[in-house]
Amino acid sequence: MESPLLDIRDLRLEFRSYRGVVKALDGVSLAVDKAEILGLVGESGCGKTITGMSVLGLLPRQQARVTSGEVLFRGDDLLRKSEHEMQRIRGRLISMVFQDPLASLNPVFTVGDQITKVIREHKRVSKKAARDAMCRALSETGLPTHKTLLHSYPHQLSGGMRQRVCMAMAISCDSPLLIADEPTTALDVTIQMQILKLLLRLREELGVAQILVTHNVGVAAQTCDRIAVMYAGQVVEQGPTVAVMKEARHPYTMALYECLPQGKSAQELLTIPGSVPDLIDPPAGCRFHPRCRRVLDVCRDVRPPLVEVARGHRVACHWVAEQSGPVRIPPES
Ligand SMILES: Nc1ncnc2c1ncn2[C@@H]1O[C@H](COP(=O)(O)OP(=O)(O)O)[C@@H](O)[C@H]1O
Ligand SMILES: [Mg+2]
Repeated sequence: MESPLLDIRDLRLEFRSYRGVVKALDGVSLAVDKAEILGLVGESGCGKTITGMSVLGLLPRQQARVTSGEVLFRGDDLLRKSEHEMQRIRGRLISMVFQDPLASLNPVFTVGDQITKVIREHKRVSKKAARDAMCRALSETGLPTHKTLLHSYPHQLSGGMRQRVCMAMAISCDSPLLIADEPTTALDVTIQMQILKLLLRLREELGVAQILVTHNVGVAAQTCDRIAVMYAGQVVEQGPTVAVMKEARHPYTMALYECLPQGKSAQELLTIPGSVPDLIDPPAGCRFHPRCRRVLDVCRDVRPPLVEVARGHRVACHWVAEQSGPVRIPPES
């Protein structure tokens, strides 16, 4: 079997803060195959963004410390790369679109200049070829390529346009892996659909693998091949989209679905009772146990391992394990 394009294994990450050590990622394992879209879902503060940032080596070096794990890209551990090596990987082999587009655009360069600059930093091409590549990327995101936009500075654009400029920059170098962190949150519904279609086209036509970070389970269902659900720095459930959507097993995943809008008015929207725990002193055992409807005694002390409940569908939950008993997955035919 071919090994995955990206293979995050047992990643543990801490932040030093003035309040203490934040145990932000606790044994995260995720894999993304070539031309596959993996959705990363979960409430705010569960570790989706820092998972993406740790792949690209973008966490603040002063505070962040990886205490164990590997981030293998084409079999090579990115955690062992120097900053110089990572600079050559970022943008060319792995691109990321951030939640906050203003923070990732350079305020002193025009849109046209910053995209062509990125292309020419990574590819040895003429100015003309870089401009052509930039115009293609802008058109893909539905932006115009006339002078008014190319000569604009980031602060002169609307939030939605900035987000699309970042997307154009991320796809302009044809990197084989794209990490998109809430790429549609700031956009209205029509443009949101356009960006999601673009992600699908990138996968189908160019084989671009993607991690799509979103707190919107509906967006993940429409776009992703597989979904991983994160809670408080751990992956609690992962598997093929259909399995995770239609046969969700973890009480946290089920609670997330109950909060989907599905024709309810804003006042009726549900939220999961309680909140994501403080990761300086996370709950022992299963980190979800204080909010869980199905909590058992064992959940308070013992961390549940990820157990395969169907082919490729894994769940970390004592209650699920107790219900299903020993699982036998038939061999692949
Ligand atoms: N620089 C930092 N110092 C301390 N804690 C941090 C830092 N960056 C992120 N965190 C913590 O890591 C956790 C995960 O954050 P994040 O990945 O942004 O969540 P998500 O993207 O799922 O909303 C949060 O508890 C957050 O407070
Ligand atoms: Mg985030």
